[in-house]
Amino acid sequence: KAELIHVFKGIPFTTRSSPELLKSLDNFDAREDDVLLVSYPKSGTHWLAGVITKLYNSQVTLTSPIEFGDISKLEELDKLSSKRIIPTHLDYNMLPPNFKKKKCKMIYISRNPKDTAVSMYHYYRDNPNLPTVDTWTAFFDLFLRGDVVCGSWFDHFLSWEEHKNETNILFLFYEDMKKDLPKIVKDITVFLNINISDHEIQDICKKSSFSEMKTNTEKENSDPNHTVCALTSNRKLIFRKGTVGDWKNHFTPKQNLRFEEIFNEKMKLSNMNYIQLSTETDL
Ligand code: A3P
Repeated sequence: KAELIHVFKGIPFTTRSSPELLKSLDNFDAREDDVLLVSYPKSGTHWLAGVITKLYNSQVTLTSPIEFGDISKLEELDKLSSKRIIPTHLDYNMLPPNFKKKKCKMIYISRNPKDTAVSMYHYYRDNPNLPTVDTWTAFFDLFLRGDVVCGSWFDHFLSWEEHKNETNILFLFYEDMKKDLPKIVKDITVFLNINISDHEIQDICKKSSFSEMKTNTEKENSDPNHTVCALTSNRKLIFRKGTVGDWKNHFTPKQNLRFEEIFNEKMKLSNMNYIQLSTETDL
């Protein structure tokens, strides 16, 4: 099923992101009030999108990912009259320059790459839009090589981390949302200048729990065009387990050593220390 994937500027995309669209992104017309929701796949994008759309009283539109679709996408997004919340899995270098020029607000969500790898493995297995993977062992190697959709987790993270202190960028972690969602939601409202009571925040957190979101998705008649992930139109594939540390049920001790070796090498200049986090606090 190799034809499901094509490579653009060195990064593997599914054919659901057309090369023409990817080429035209450089000319994308950003608006000052656009909010970008950025992630490497399987980092909690849907969760965050669910929270953010509930924060607004006014009309906002959660679009499909900017890199998803064909060339007609640009026109489609241009036609929207309301404020746009735009998800994307693009790395920083590939982001349409207009978003940077206009200092649009961007929220980057990241997750322990070990859990991201496990989540992505299951996603590959269940998703007909992605190439077949036979075993966890095989996928583990692909992930570490960056031979998966959206390329290397490390490159993606590092490209964004470099900009994390810019005032229009907010960095979030899946694990922090699991630990204290109301606090993170509060941080998001401050960042987005949204006025909302603590009581409303509590309510939104309740509605955004894994079980609530999973149940709602199973009930809804999902519109195939309504997706925040460029890799599937089937939202039912998203809500798998929703926990921290599932990697421990998949990694062999040898795989763990190899992962940490590569992590430490690639992340030498990074401030992020997931590995330390996960051994010290037993996440
Ligand atoms: P698992 O496969 O580990 O369960 P994305 O939205 O970026 O594709 O990420 C999907 C991951 O986020 C899945 O991880 C999914 O279960 C988890 N997730 C989705 N909604 C969640 C929620 N409300 N709370 C916790 N985790 C959630």
